[in-house]
Amino acid sequence: MPKHVYIEDLKNHVGEEVMLCGWCYNKRSSKKLHFIIVRDGSGLCQSVGFIPSLSEEVAKSCEAVEQETAIKVTGKVKKDDRQVGGYELEMTSLEIVAESKDYPISPKEHGVAFLMENRHLWLRSKKQHAIIRVRHNIVKAIREFFDNHGFINVDAPILTGNAAEGTTTLFETDYFDQKAYLSQSGQLYMEAAAMAHGRVYCLGPTFRAEKSKTRRHLTEFWMVEPEVAYMELAEDMDLAEEFLEYVVQTVLARCENELTVLERDLDKLRKIKRPFPRISYDEAVEFLTQKKAEFAASDDEELRKLSEDMLKNGPGDDLGAADETAIGITYDKPVLIHRYPAKIKAFYMKEDPENPGKALCVDVIAPEGYGEIIGGSEREASIEVLEAKVKEHGLSMDAFKWYLDLRRYGSVPHAGFGLGIERTVAWLCGLHHVRETIPFPRMMDKIWP
Ligand code: 4AD
Ligand code: MG
Repeated sequence: MPKHVYIEDLKNHVGEEVMLCGWCYNKRSSKKLHFIIVRDGSGLCQSVGFIPSLSEEVAKSCEAVEQETAIKVTGKVKKDDRQVGGYELEMTSLEIVAESKDYPISPKEHGVAFLMENRHLWLRSKKQHAIIRVRHNIVKAIREFFDNHGFINVDAPILTGNAAEGTTTLFETDYFDQKAYLSQSGQLYMEAAAMAHGRVYCLGPTFRAEKSKTRRHLTEFWMVEPEVAYMELAEDMDLAEEFLEYVVQTVLARCENELTVLERDLDKLRKIKRPFPRISYDEAVEFLTQKKAEFAASDDEELRKLSEDMLKNGPGDDLGAADETAIGITYDKPVLIHRYPAKIKAFYMKEDPENPGKALCVDVIAPEGYGEIIGGSEREASIEVLEAKVKEHGLSMDAFKWYLDLRRYGSVPHAGFGLGIERTVAWLCGLHHVRETIPFPRMMDKIWP
């Protein structure tokens, strides 16, 4: 029996007889030939069966193969640049492992709603396959960056007793007659871990009961959260910048094939090199006011529409999706916006002593309209100030006792940020909606499959 090899390794087996184990991706036949494209997860390879030279049994099996029939194909590996993947298999035999009758996703066009319902099968399609591989490489590059910069990976709990990012988006659950919540962020736990290890990060799922149905929001998403003791906002921004450049350039170098399948404009990603623009919230508002007028007078209908939604939240309020889009399409690099009004940001953020009312925080807006990908800040280190904030935000002093302890015993300046994996995948892959960036998306109207 010839050796089982993966399609991505065919380059090492030219001229040898091997076995591919996979599924039929596509098939066409003529009187004399069967062309069966095999998919094995690592790639695609056409196998060609010359019917007069096949045994009767193998010829019959070839006849019976349909889209997604599970098959084992043996044959001789030939280099052929014209074929998908650059290699071809001269078939000697084919065995059907399992049939696949009337596979619902045919090569014809399908609507997204239908494909989403069949997400468990849609994952096999070429573009979806490429996206999940890019996602894998993004996560790998993220871990590499922190592991190579002295960070320790510390896991945060998923079931928690307190809110981290405000109480409006909490998923509540019953925990043996106590109330518990699904974690919105591992940050508070990372602050504890940073006081033990100096530089730490967590990478895990987080949950937000987002009632908004936007192309940037999921109810379950993955986030990487570094946290560093003795770090202030300026260094936090440096870290975010170096980190982003590393992730983008590493993924670009490793995933050129996948990004090409996705028809991503690689030049746009090549430009993601430091330094990135840094503007304050006040400067951003000024810039947006100008742009709003400029877009309103534009010939481009899309820009005119965007202009209507810009600065909708009013002065001193958070920037909205349209504002992030407007910033993101103006710059060809990520933009760091720092020092938002403290009252619209989380309770744990330190206020800027030099800009009363402003928080020492930073949001990073991705280029090309992909929105906010990073949110971070320096944390309040004073016990008195933090206690007042907990009260002000209507949070329970009891629930945050452990967190306040971090300010009682050797409190030091510290900072960190969170990067959303799905929005990063959407940006690097050039996807309009985050629902395709995660294998099984969870949204307000989607818990299945
Ligand atoms: O800005 P956020 O809410 O920040 C935090 O959670 C901090 N505790 C992070 C920290 O400082 N350690 O979220 C961070 C990022 C956002 O910039 C965005 O990329 C992503 O998480 N994100 C979402 N992604 C998908 N769906 C949602 N509903 C998201 N909410 C936030
Ligand atoms: Mg944010």
